[in-house]
Amino acid sequence: MITTPSVLFVCLGNICRSPLAEAAFRKAAAEAGLEVHTDSAGTAAYHVGNAPDPRSIATAARYGVDIRSYEGRQITSVDYTRFTHIFALDGSNLDDIRQSAPSNTTAKIALLLNVIEGREGQAVADPYYGDEAGFEETWADVSAATEALVAKLVSEQN
Ligand code: 4NP
Repeated sequence: MITTPSVLFVCLGNICRSPLAEAAFRKAAAEAGLEVHTDSAGTAAYHVGNAPDPRSIATAARYGVDIRSYEGRQITSVDYTRFTHIFALDGSNLDDIRQSAPSNTTAKIALLLNVIEGREGQAVADPYYGDEAGFEETWADVSAATEALVAKLVSEQN
């Protein structure tokens, strides 16, 4: 039986990095013809209900993904059983996610860049306080990682 992979991407605010990871994953999965469920969330509640950062919206649009309707939310305890995979964008997000994990957690929890050979343990840098170029770098990281992830998920189904 094939279970549809369901993947949650988690950063701090859910307005910069994780919406871009979700967008890149949707794009890579669609291109590969892989059915997925996906969402993104923040460890913090600062931006609950907010649209992504305008710089993230512009970056995703440059790569053909419209993320204007994405809405910030905080990770909740049900996410740990609803999703098969939870990917943290950086090490501090990973620590926070693990610390809040309920005892019935079934999702596999990992650092996103661990899916790229040679980049294990690395963080997707937070572009929030930087300039536009930082968002391009975020896109490069999350698209490389989610393309590798899609390839892995496809091979697991075969
Ligand atoms: P994100 O970036 O975690 O990639 O969404 C941030 C967004 C907002 C804040 C920090 C990081 N903030 O402090 O409001």
